[in-house]
Amino acid sequence: MNTFTTRFVPLQSGRMEQKMSDISVRFAGLEFKNPVFASSGPISDSPDTVEKCCKGGAGAVICKTVTPIPQLRVYPRPHDLSLEKFGLDRTGLGCGKLFADEAPEIWAKEVLPRCVEVCAKYDVVFIQSILGDGKNIDSWISLAQMMEENGAPALELNFSCPHSSAVAQMTGAQLGMDPVAAHDVAAAVRKHVKIPIFTKMTSRCEDVDQVAAACAAAGADGISVFNNPVGLWVDLENLSYFGQPASAWGYGGAFMQPMALYKTAKVHQNPNVTVPVYGGTGIWNADDALRFILLGNHAVQLQIAVMELGYDLFKQITDGIEQYMDRKGIADLAEIRGSILPKLVSNRDLPPDKKGDVVISIDEERCIGCERCKCCMWGVIEIQNGLAKAVNIDRCHGCGWCMSLCEQNAMRVIEKSGEVRMQF
Ligand SMILES: Cc1cc2nc3c(=O)[nH]c(=O)nc-3n(C[C@H](O)[C@H](O)[C@H](O)COP(=O)(O)O)c2cc1C
Repeated sequence: MNTFTTRFVPLQSGRMEQKMSDISVRFAGLEFKNPVFASSGPISDSPDTVEKCCKGGAGAVICKTVTPIPQLRVYPRPHDLSLEKFGLDRTGLGCGKLFADEAPEIWAKEVLPRCVEVCAKYDVVFIQSILGDGKNIDSWISLAQMMEENGAPALELNFSCPHSSAVAQMTGAQLGMDPVAAHDVAAAVRKHVKIPIFTKMTSRCEDVDQVAAACAAAGADGISVFNNPVGLWVDLENLSYFGQPASAWGYGGAFMQPMALYKTAKVHQNPNVTVPVYGGTGIWNADDALRFILLGNHAVQLQIAVMELGYDLFKQITDGIEQYMDRKGIADLAEIRGSILPKLVSNRDLPPDKKGDVVISIDEERCIGCERCKCCMWGVIEIQNGLAKAVNIDRCHGCGWCMSLCEQNAMRVIEKSGEVRMQF
């Protein structure tokens, strides 16, 4: 595989400038031409949709989860909805349609080989997602072996589905919140197949790093983060809940990103998570993807954004990552992977500031008098002659709220010494 993407970018003069940035990634013995993956879900539920991911520019495709549990292969309709109509942009509800329609035997013989073939044509890694019957180890082993025998290059064990446990006990997130159960399943699968295995974590678990560490100890080759939590929506006009007959939906979207970043950092900070991590949650563009890489992920994965914006999003995001690398002079993603982790400070070690140690400072040159900062809870700021003034600085808590609202970046938080603590 060519590990460098060589691109020729037209200069204004018409000459072509050669650019080289290495966006390929390697882990678990696999080579990925880029770090933007299609996560498991409707965007990759058949050879046709898998091919769309490949054409759209994904570096790997994780297919819709396959399970032997018959009740998880039947589902109500509708099953995929957005909450955009209610003002919640960039969201997705996924319900009922839990897993692939096909029984494992059918999938393994008829669908899997075609998905693998399609991916090979585009030099894309195919990863088979599976979910066994709860803690029944034998069911996981036979499912994993069946997929390996039929050509799966790698497996993702679904320890993350938000609502499968309502139908079949100790499946999905329920299993993924129990480090011992997750360990035992991962260890058993590891023992019985040769291909790389990854375990997918649930965002519903507070101590998800411990589950990730248990999976690494069990021999998993990598960790996938994160699946969605569960949500419900109420439709006032129809005096009902939205999306009926399904009521509890896997609910995700862009709003999940800060929580996913926090938990991603936690996973990377746990010294017992000794294997690579891929994934994200709430990724809509290259900036979002880069945040997860700066925190240590080898790659990212997307679902709802692709459902909303289409398969070309993979290419747009890889392009955006390359542009960022060119702008910052970064040749290889390894240079920035995890680079901001050491800057994360535990709450225990934060500076013990007292009121008055740190206050707001306003740059009048930049202020346009928009009055957004007037919401200051302590009445520090007044508008005088059309400009913001910190008239009661002794009341300032140095909280930063006004600074974060100021669209002109006219505010800074400064220390007593005048040193800038934070600015945009
Ligand atoms: C409609 C829908 C169906 C999904 N099905 C699966 C699935 O079968 N297996 C799985 O591991 N994750 C499944 N997911 C979770 C996604 O793979 C992904 O982890 C989650 O949506 C968060 O990523 P995103 O913010 O990019 O959407 C599904 C998500 C949605 C919205």
